[in-house]
Amino acid sequence: MSTRIILFTGKGGVGKTSVAASTAILLAKKGFKTIIISTDPAHSLSDAFATEIGPKIRKISDNLDAQEISAIDAVNKYWDTLKGFLSGLFSTQGLDPVSSEEIATLPGFDEGAELLYVSDYVKQGNYDVIVMDSAPTGESLKLLSFPEAMSWYMEKLFPIGRRTAKLVRPLARPFLSVPVPDDSVFKSMENLYDGLKEVRNILVDDKITSIRLVCTPDRMSLNETMRAYTYLLLYGYPVDALVINKIFHGNSGEFFEKWRRIQEGIMKEMDSYFQDLKIFRLMFSNEEPTGSERLQNLGREIYGNSDPYEVFSRSIPIEYVKSGDAIIAKIKLPFASKERMNLYNRSGELVIEVDNWRRVFYLPQTLQNKQPTSAEFNNGYLHIQLR
Ligand SMILES: Nc1ncnc2c1ncn2[C@@H]1O[C@H](COP(=O)(O)OP(=O)(O)O)[C@@H](O)[C@H]1O
Ligand SMILES: [Mg+2]
Repeated sequence: MSTRIILFTGKGGVGKTSVAASTAILLAKKGFKTIIISTDPAHSLSDAFATEIGPKIRKISDNLDAQEISAIDAVNKYWDTLKGFLSGLFSTQGLDPVSSEEIATLPGFDEGAELLYVSDYVKQGNYDVIVMDSAPTGESLKLLSFPEAMSWYMEKLFPIGRRTAKLVRPLARPFLSVPVPDDSVFKSMENLYDGLKEVRNILVDDKITSIRLVCTPDRMSLNETMRAYTYLLLYGYPVDALVINKIFHGNSGEFFEKWRRIQEGIMKEMDSYFQDLKIFRLMFSNEEPTGSERLQNLGREIYGNSDPYEVFSRSIPIEYVKSGDAIIAKIKLPFASKERMNLYNRSGELVIEVDNWRRVFYLPQTLQNKQPTSAEFNNGYLHIQLR
């Protein structure tokens, strides 16, 4: 059996950690060898399980391990050679050598390093399921877009492949006053690059990965969830479910009457917007759901008779169809609008920008010279005409 990955994301405080932890407990009880890892730098798995976890793998119960990943450990583990190079580079520039701590704070490095843990666990095959408790939406989207962003930089800055590396170095030398990376650094970058490519392949495979959105029934959370869903689809990540958490009971008293009506209205909107996703509902409980027992009850309330291991909804990635003498690229992107979007062909790559997020599609060989001539939305799909 190959490893399954279930990642929870959503706005801060909506209940990602609680829902992720309860999902992991249910999976372990069902007999799946499970690890829950937190990639949120503000770890709260220890608080949820009411037991100290930390950066090393810690056994919680039969079939259940947990780990709060440390970006510094991750950089040390995976980026040692690169660190050596960066230190050298910094010192030739009269700067102090860099420490792992400093590398871990460079944009994107911690996210990238954390993803390599996931890739390792998948490769080792020790677990049936990896449950990821990630940072609030913005941060976790950074985590997910990292492999692609990194591949892009690597291909532009360091045309990878040993042969190209050798070609580029002598050429580069006269123009650069900085040290040119030696073979071991190239080797290390190559490994890193391959590793990240693998992670991306794992994360976009809807047979392996399911991303579950967690939200609360209020306007702010709905708006953020719609945006997150759009960006996730833009990057081709398979979202299969939405968990609506902290729903007030009918008997929560007069004070909450107005809130209950607001929540009902928002949940109706959610039903109509997220028809492609399985929607789970979870009531606001009258005590804080911490500790294994309460979390297990929370899990039962979320999934009912459904199996948390299941893939609840399948996504359709980019698809090319012929239409007369043009090709239409179809990409699922509900909630995006043309006003917020930018489209162009940049030397064989189709670039789609929505707000601050950019996705680069490497066009198939036969389409590399085609330009996006028009685009329209059709039932939540973006149809891009390429000529
Ligand atoms: N259904 C619920 N009922 C009551 N409290 C909840 C529920 N879900 C989460 N909480 C509480 O809300 C707070 C935030 O939850 P948490 O899982 O840490 O959210 P996130 O990881 O999204 O920041 C925690 O105190 C948690 O125990
Ligand atoms: Mg959390």
